Amino acid sequence: MRPLSALLLLLALHAGTEARAATVAEVSSPSGVLTATLDLHEGRLSYHVQRLGEPVIAPSALGFQIRGAGKLERSLALTRQATSSTDETWEQPWGESRHVRNHYNELRARFTETIKPGRIVDVVFRVYDDGVGFRYEFPRQAAMDEVIIDDELTEFAIAAPATAWWIPAGEWNRYEYLYQRTPLAEVTQAHTPITVRTDDGLHLAFHEAALVDYSAMWLRRTEGQRLRAQLSPASQGWKVRRALPFHTPWRTVQITDSAAALYESSKLILNLNEPNAVGDVSWFQPAKYIGIWWSLHLETESWATGKEHGATTANTRRYIDFAAKHGFRGVLVEGWNPGWDGQWFGNGYDFNFTQATRDFDIEALAAYAMSKGVHLIGHHETGCAVSHYEDQMDAAFAMNERLGIDVVKTGYVCDAGQIERRGDDGKIVREWHDGQWNANHHLRVVQAAAKHHVAINAHEPIKDTGLRRTYPNWVSREGARGMEYGAWGNPTNPPEHEVNLVFTRMLSGPMDYTPGILSLQGRGQAIQTTLAKQLALYVTLYSPVQMAADLPENYARHMDAFQFIKDVPADWAQTRVLNGEVGDYVTMARQDRNSTDWYLGAITDEQGRVLQVPLSFLEPGLSYEAQVYRDGDGAHWKSAPFKLTRETRTVTSADTLTLRLAAGGGQAIRFTPKR
Ligand code: NOJ
Ligand code: CA
Repeated sequence: MRPLSALLLLLALHAGTEARAATVAEVSSPSGVLTATLDLHEGRLSYHVQRLGEPVIAPSALGFQIRGAGKLERSLALTRQATSSTDETWEQPWGESRHVRNHYNELRARFTETIKPGRIVDVVFRVYDDGVGFRYEFPRQAAMDEVIIDDELTEFAIAAPATAWWIPAGEWNRYEYLYQRTPLAEVTQAHTPITVRTDDGLHLAFHEAALVDYSAMWLRRTEGQRLRAQLSPASQGWKVRRALPFHTPWRTVQITDSAAALYESSKLILNLNEPNAVGDVSWFQPAKYIGIWWSLHLETESWATGKEHGATTANTRRYIDFAAKHGFRGVLVEGWNPGWDGQWFGNGYDFNFTQATRDFDIEALAAYAMSKGVHLIGHHETGCAVSHYEDQMDAAFAMNERLGIDVVKTGYVCDAGQIERRGDDGKIVREWHDGQWNANHHLRVVQAAAKHHVAINAHEPIKDTGLRRTYPNWVSREGARGMEYGAWGNPTNPPEHEVNLVFTRMLSGPMDYTPGILSLQGRGQAIQTTLAKQLALYVTLYSPVQMAADLPENYARHMDAFQFIKDVPADWAQTRVLNGEVGDYVTMARQDRNSTDWYLGAITDEQGRVLQVPLSFLEPGLSYEAQVYRDGDGAHWKSAPFKLTRETRTVTSADTLTLRLAAGGGQAIRFTPKR
């Protein structure tokens, strides 16, 4: 908005036109596709969003429930506003794409209470062509020097009838639910990202960016299609306590006209995070890993010591040898330390992170691994005794650094709301995995780890809000149902699960899904997939630490398919989503960051599909050898999951491939330029 029109709006307000909702400030995206508008109605603040002139987000409230001082949402007047534009491109140290363009118009609007105590809050909108981010900023002010937030009143009222894909929030599990597909008007309380498709085909995703020193935002449906922020609880009863000045995380709405564009628009979340704050991270190498892990979930080996113990010196040497032979950089070993012998679920007080069990010669194994170009991957399961872990983590990361253990998987296994924090009085209180205290805990971990050049892959984590931009050693996390549910889940992950993940959980960032179970077999139950689909997961579910999760002896039986897992990189120069529908199927192409090879992955739900895929992403004029791993004729996740056809073809960017995906199937292709 030009300064003159801003002034006129201000004048209009002061002339007493407050009876109707009055637009007080507005900002459009760079090409004008999206417009975000701030309105005041009798001093109450709201916003709405339009796409190409049509409403997407209907008028939705902004504000806070603040302890003591009361609601901050009425008797507000606009007292200042400014707009600016940014168009910059920055480079990721690792990621789905090397370069990220950050192109938006920004509006800053200051609102001041017209009654006592005259509190001030700034609302900042950044509007992209494919989404909107906004946050609240509390400047230093006479009226208050800290706020205790009982809840945020931020709303998202979706204008058109819509379907939602979501998991419940505030329930006993953290994030490990199957995605539900329901009318939006049947959502109860959901975690973000929540993905929504309107009946007229608009794709929306609601999430947040840069969740720092604040509690995570859940979305609770209050009426119709109106969702309201519900902040994750804290032991003290309030949700967030902050000294001024501070700002909230960004509330994000991705808005696109296709599922494919929705995935690509999620770079908005990275863009709304601060640049790298930990310095050079070239010591972190995106890579694949294997580990003493699936056997534990199959219960053929144990975390606990004794005759079934997986983490023995001899067994680990076997894994190191396998990794060295097949080019895996990492070997994860779980159960390497004391603490697993008793009841460790939700009880981590026996865990010691600087000492190994007697049958695990960590010094010799780390040296043996390094002599073969392999690095052990550390494992810090806290059992949710989080303060107990914090007492040890500096020493643990120092030990890791000394031994070349430069990636550590952390774990927070306990029910939601059961994180154990030692208060200043020494007493234990319980926090939520995604509350303010634990959000800060995760940052203490990544910062302590960064000092020792250790990368973190958190399980049972807080959700990803793009903080890998600021802390690029926070490389991956779980935060959804992973492959382990294929081992023992009841129910197991159905064929649509990974497709659901792509358009929900994966919008937030990398996931350590741990794919590649080529035996297709869990603990007495089949994995609901074809063999080709397991390969395609390496392209469709991004993680810079990507596991080949099956047992070495199972890979030995499937060397043909295993070749793709050996070849596929874990770091990309660029990513294209070639097609897809939420919950149904998706095809992605990604270019290797360290060569000119391209990789394609396509996955489908329980429906077989034929997809036409133009190869226009390949470099024109070059011939490529396409190494195809496809569902064989008659393949089906239930009746013929192992049917795999491997073939090579010569293709160019002018070709269109016909991909035939079996029910529950997929396809993986490596494209190598021919010389
Ligand atoms: C749950 C994690 O997701 C899994 O990978 C790990 O093996 C167990 N916790 C034990 O820490
Ligand atoms: Ca489906």
